[in-house]
Amino acid sequence: MIKALRGMKDILDPKFLKIFDTAREVAQSYGFSYIETPILEETKLFKRSVGESSDIVNKEMYEFIDKGGNDVCLRPEGTAGVVRSYIEHKFDRLETPKRFWYFGPMFRYERPQKGRLREFHQFGIESFKEASIYEDINIISLAADIFDKLGIKYTLKINSLGCNECMPSYKEKLTEFLNENKDKLCEDCQRRITQNPIRTLDCKNESCQKILKDAPKITDNLCENCKSDFEELKKGLDNLGIKYEVDKHLVRGLDYYTKTTFEFISDEIGAQSAIAGGGRYDKLVEMLGGKPTPAVGFAIGIERIMDLVKEDEERSGIYMGAMIKEAIPFIQKEARKLRKNQKVYVEVKPKSLKAHLKAADKGNFKKALIVGEDELKEGKFFEKEL
Ligand code: HAM
Repeated sequence: MIKALRGMKDILDPKFLKIFDTAREVAQSYGFSYIETPILEETKLFKRSVGESSDIVNKEMYEFIDKGGNDVCLRPEGTAGVVRSYIEHKFDRLETPKRFWYFGPMFRYERPQKGRLREFHQFGIESFKEASIYEDINIISLAADIFDKLGIKYTLKINSLGCNECMPSYKEKLTEFLNENKDKLCEDCQRRITQNPIRTLDCKNESCQKILKDAPKITDNLCENCKSDFEELKKGLDNLGIKYEVDKHLVRGLDYYTKTTFEFISDEIGAQSAIAGGGRYDKLVEMLGGKPTPAVGFAIGIERIMDLVKEDEERSGIYMGAMIKEAIPFIQKEARKLRKNQKVYVEVKPKSLKAHLKAADKGNFKKALIVGEDELKEGKFFEKEL
């Protein structure tokens, strides 16, 4: 028997679509537009954006040479492709902001476990050309609205990584601290000292965590502008009644972030607890060849929140069934009329009234319309509310 690949799953749960519909509705209510970018992109797009020091690029890419000799890979995340498209369509030359939402599969060759797949789906948001911290608040509020609408409880963690002005001097301070403690750090962190020292801060290794709790903190080293923006961010979230915790070690696993970073965490889904993550990436458009453009966004991991969404228990739609074969064309015709404004299921196998009612009940329909010999003669239905 041929099975789906390890870490890849068939989606049969209707909650998947419910999440999609809810997220789309919320994004549209904020005035965002839809974007869909290709699943396959040039590998160098992700090397330059997500970063060569990240685990995603280093260890987890589905990378191959295509028949034309191009080095390509299945996208491990959505931001890089949206930025590529933004530049390719010359939106970076316009003054007006652009705000997008997207939904689709991402691929990371990770070790599969609960909540960690090799093919998973993200709902993402990317907002370009708005440097104001109020846009960060807008974006976080959008994510919070999606979770609220879906009835999902979360903890929001926020941090600031600083900008080009304060980040370099902080990196120097941190590197000094890391070099002093180098012998006590794991191999990955030793490598990160030269590649990207701030990535040591979210190392999961307990012995590293013990050392790193005394490391200098970026939020204590922010420049005046970043500091006041971070204060404004907190005030803005308070203003909207969105609760948060400051996590000074929240640096995220992708290299493109500047200033605000955030993550939504659930304590109901086990070790892979991040249900969404995002932040500002003010340098990325420029790094990929576009005009300097501030940007901020996030992505929600759909599979991670599937178990947190309640099943729809309310009955809905109409079940139509025939007791005799000759009544089937009649119900098919009537169903087309009724479908204009509701869900109508047609059972094409003739069955007894009792069997039909049982099936309608099991299918969680609201109403059953059944046609037997007598009903067919009169052009009517036997009707039952369920
Ligand atoms: P990320 O934190 O790598 O960020 O992924 C976002 C979310 O995708 C995670 O919080 C998690 O819920 C889900 N996720 C990640 N990896 C897996 C996996 N292997 N299996 C299942 N779910 C997973 C990004 O991808 C950024 N592009 C987000 C962003 C958009 N930042 C700015 N704009």
